[in-house]
Amino acid sequence: MSVSLLSFCGSLRAASSNLALLTAAERLAPEGLSIERYDAIAELPHFSPDLDTQDRLPAIVRELRDRVAAADGLLFAVPEYMHCLPGSFKNALDWMVGCTRFPGKPVALAHVSDRHAFAPGQLEEVLRTMSAEIVAEAGFSLGLRTNDVTADRICGDSHLAGIISDGLERFRARLAHVCY
Ligand SMILES: Cc1cc2nc3c(=O)[nH]c(=O)nc-3n(C[C@H](O)[C@H](O)[C@H](O)COP(=O)(O)O)c2cc1C
Repeated sequence: MSVSLLSFCGSLRAASSNLALLTAAERLAPEGLSIERYDAIAELPHFSPDLDTQDRLPAIVRELRDRVAAADGLLFAVPEYMHCLPGSFKNALDWMVGCTRFPGKPVALAHVSDRHAFAPGQLEEVLRTMSAEIVAEAGFSLGLRTNDVTADRICGDSHLAGIISDGLERFRARLAHVCY
């Protein structure tokens, strides 16, 4: 059976290393796993409970929630800014709280580097608060010391490509198990 992931890049930078990681993941996805990227984080309105009503909910938020609900799992690649999660990414998470199918949603965390001392733990805390299921065995880090990296370079490096392929395969196996 086939399982689907929705991926989120926490950086809006055009040459983002996190985006390069996710692009590489799309190319390296094992058979039976498809990855679609959510790329409208920058267009989401600032979260306000006043907009989170049946009448006022923005269409773009409804679409975000529908896509999250439809995905078998979520894949996040997020940098750290000023010892925190990027604001635009946190805003997207705030909107996801209203997705009735978020609780229990399997999530894997992908990291470009091991240098971020604060944001990864904050992300896990937020996800636990949202009742996501963090699939620890599917998470991985490329362990890079630079953010000057492209998807081509990642895919062309057998060590880096292997880290991604192995993580995705563990996520696929876990999701296939859940779906059966
Ligand atoms: C304004 C700013 C603040 C940053 N703060 C931190 C930080 O607190 N800790 C850290 O490890 N890296 C920090 N960084 C480095 C970024 O996390 C790093 O450049 C990362 O690769 C950005 O992700 P991207 O390559 O996907 O755009 C900061 C970068 C910027 C531009």
